[in-house]
Amino acid sequence: MPLLQLEGVSKRFGQVVVADGITFQLEEGASVGVVGPNGAGKTSMFGLISGDIKPDSGSISFEGRDLHRVATPTRCRMGIGRTYQIPQPFEHMTVFENTLVAAQQGARTRGVASYEKAYQSLERVGMAALANRPAGSLALLHRKRLELARALSSNPRILLLDEIAGGLTDAEVVDLSAVIRGLQGEGIAILWIEHVVRALLSTVDRLLCLANGALVADGEPREVLASDAVRTVYLGGRIINESGVS
Ligand SMILES: Nc1ncnc2c1ncn2[C@@H]1O[C@H](COP(=O)(O)OP(=O)(O)O)[C@@H](O)[C@H]1O
Ligand SMILES: [Mg+2]
Repeated sequence: MPLLQLEGVSKRFGQVVVADGITFQLEEGASVGVVGPNGAGKTSMFGLISGDIKPDSGSISFEGRDLHRVATPTRCRMGIGRTYQIPQPFEHMTVFENTLVAAQQGARTRGVASYEKAYQSLERVGMAALANRPAGSLALLHRKRLELARALSSNPRILLLDEIAGGLTDAEVVDLSAVIRGLQGEGIAILWIEHVVRALLSTVDRLLCLANGALVADGEPREVLASDAVRTVYLGGRIINESGVS
């Protein structure tokens, strides 16, 4: 049984088609990247999987369970963890408190178990030393890592990462990619939207490309990047190469 399965998933907002019959499946522990021009529907696809957006048609199932009537918090507890393209911590709470909320709400832990879970997640992403800092005072790298720690605190079976490397320096991207590879090594499946193609290529073994809400390529990363379908999508705009989208 696949871990995650999308079957003909479609969604439009007025005239804008954000998902156009998307079909693919992910196996347990898979490591998959997602590329596509701005506005392609990548973030919307995460919203459809996490439950923030309801599809107009098609079905999504997780570990064989149809998610149609499953609310977002339940999906999180089932093991669908997500980071947001624009980090959204509780600004006035500390880093630790932010992670603790995720451990309590997402993993349904209580008492000492919540504290342990929250601390472990912060350690895992290299943020333990910043535990007492207000989240609102963090620079971008640490905001991105906090997003990851919060997602980890819910004990995910899959992590949906939305441009977690965007805006970081080269060295920061290398560090963050290593953390993500470590998580995948522990058996957590990764579905990673990223414009920093170099980071994806160091981590994923499969790549999806979305354009106008449709899946236009799905396969081995370098083959997908070199494919006519993907070149056409970026034509007249930006061409993908290994140092990113330029
Ligand atoms: N809630 C919404 N209402 C209306 N339009 C939306 C909504 N969410 C996204 N869109 C539009 O859908 C398109 C796809 O957006 P998005 O999924 O964020 O793309 P990507 O992440 O690939 O850049 C964009 O044109 C965006 O403006
Ligand atoms: Mg997006």
